Amino acid sequence: MKKILTGDGSFTFLNEEFKEVYHSISGAEEEAVKKYAAPTNIFELAKKGRIRILDICFGMGYNSSAAIDIALNSNPECRIDIIGLEKDKSLLNSLKDLKPKFKNYDIIRNIKNDFYKDSNVDLRILFGDAVETIKKVEGLFDVCFLDPFSPRKLPSLWTQNFFKDISSKLKTGGVLATFSCATHVRINLVRAGFDVKDGPCIGRRAPSTIAVKL
Ligand SMILES: C[S@@+](CC[C@H](N)C(=O)[O-])C[C@H]1O[C@@H](n2cnc3c(N)ncnc32)[C@H](O)[C@@H]1O
Repeated sequence: MKKILTGDGSFTFLNEEFKEVYHSISGAEEEAVKKYAAPTNIFELAKKGRIRILDICFGMGYNSSAAIDIALNSNPECRIDIIGLEKDKSLLNSLKDLKPKFKNYDIIRNIKNDFYKDSNVDLRILFGDAVETIKKVEGLFDVCFLDPFSPRKLPSLWTQNFFKDISSKLKTGGVLATFSCATHVRINLVRAGFDVKDGPCIGRRAPSTIAVKL
């Protein structure tokens, strides 16, 4: 996997099959924090003592790692349940020598097979095509990170039907964050039962999208 240095000093990967990078070139860690973990209310949710996160396209685990840092900073007693959906099982082996600044990135490095558990965090990864694995996900979630490759390269993860499956896994008021603000993506989100608004602009002029399950 080819490592690419991004603008905030953190590394991302280049995916040769999709010819896309895993994060914004302006800053991989910054994107995980500002586009995903911060705008999904994790700091506030963690104060309630338990938070459930569905991390679609888990990748290098930056989004989950940023979320764990924010949740434990808010409430060191918080229980954080994460289900990650990811196609590439070989990816985890490539993470061992990465040193992003997330305080809890050891959790990601220490995932054994598809599982990590300690007194705060229960993290499981379902490997396979997310269009299929999402059907096996149990329980309802507070937050969803949706971070596939672009709609042009990976259209199957941006459809109305897939968004309906995501919606069925979220609590009412549950929040989804994604980097795309494409009109057809937002229309599909609305048709799947979400209210959509602009998320932060990180690394480009266009906003990301924050969608709230109605
Ligand atoms: C943009 S990267 C995700 C970066 C990640 N969220 C992070 O924080 O490091 C996209 C990820 O989607 C995965 N992927 C591609 N097609 C997929 C599919 N059909 N189902 C699940 N994951 C898929 C890739 O293997 C890659 O890890």
